[in-house]
Amino acid sequence: MKEKIEKFLEEVRVFQTSSSEELEQFRIRILGKNGVLNDLFEEFKNVTPDQKKDVGQLLNQLKTQATEKINATKTLIESQKTEKKSNKDLTLPCQFEFTGARHPISIVRNEIIKIFGNIGYTVAEGPEIEDDWHNFTALNFPEEHPARDMQDTFFIERNPDIVLRTHTSSVQVRVMETTKPPIRIIAPGRTYRNEAISSRAHVFFHQVEGLYIDHNVSFADMKQTLLYFAREMFSADTQIRLRPSYFPFTEPSAEMDISCNICKGAGCAMCKKTGWVEILGCGMVDPNVLENCGIDSNVYTGFAFGMGVERVTNLKYQVKDIRLFSENDIRFLQQFESAL
Ligand code: PHE
Repeated sequence: MKEKIEKFLEEVRVFQTSSSEELEQFRIRILGKNGVLNDLFEEFKNVTPDQKKDVGQLLNQLKTQATEKINATKTLIESQKTEKKSNKDLTLPCQFEFTGARHPISIVRNEIIKIFGNIGYTVAEGPEIEDDWHNFTALNFPEEHPARDMQDTFFIERNPDIVLRTHTSSVQVRVMETTKPPIRIIAPGRTYRNEAISSRAHVFFHQVEGLYIDHNVSFADMKQTLLYFAREMFSADTQIRLRPSYFPFTEPSAEMDISCNICKGAGCAMCKKTGWVEILGCGMVDPNVLENCGIDSNVYTGFAFGMGVERVTNLKYQVKDIRLFSENDIRFLQQFESAL
């Protein structure tokens, strides 16, 4: 019987756990009503008198050691629990903090720049506060010409010669004035118009305009360039169509529609059930404009186009209200590509 008790003593000595359930099971097994200890005391009755003293001591030892072990383990488990609550586990991998996202307008602008960059267009920039010459006159808007009303301009009251640019065509003028063809540029930037703010219009928006001037540049070149752009930007099966239009600085002028990328031409709310959505204005640069900027219109021809970045973004991400772009609502902005 001694060996038996010693075996249990050893078991008690090596026992360890961090689970309260396991500890309770252990307690029941050793100290419980039908547990090891009670069985042993039962057996103790049959021990011969000469052995009683030794065995009895061992039994008491088992009882105290088991009780002590159980109490000590209990305290340990409790302390581990509170420690977990109060102390951070420094071995955990760090938490990912939201670091911001790129603005959808920036994402789309960058994509447009990349698409044209791939066919040799470089980026040109100019001032947002312009003079009348670069925004209008050089672009073949004669003074008092009604076409000026097409663009609800913000004028500086004290000096009507200074305007907030209504388009980035002003950058094209600046480039033509200072660069000898061939010219192949796109002009991305912010533009301003005095419009009533609604889901479809705002007082400021973003444009990317393009200009290509060289010998023998044709309308067909323009069409193919814009088809390439539409397919890169939206999808390889995108169709384009050109409708005659009017801009003072291009002749002939056109507006370009793309097949609706949402319903694929079947007709939906975005394309007002027509299957087509308007995306940009374009045309062959008017010879007057070339001459105004010091380029010989007998030697060179070119095409230009201009699009609203908000419009392209609306189509790409199906944003239905242009005001979302300037409200800086984090719930809207964080749905786009991470800035990292
Ligand atoms: N500047 C025009 C606009 O703002 C767009 C355009 C650019 C049209 C170049 C034709 C050619 O509406």
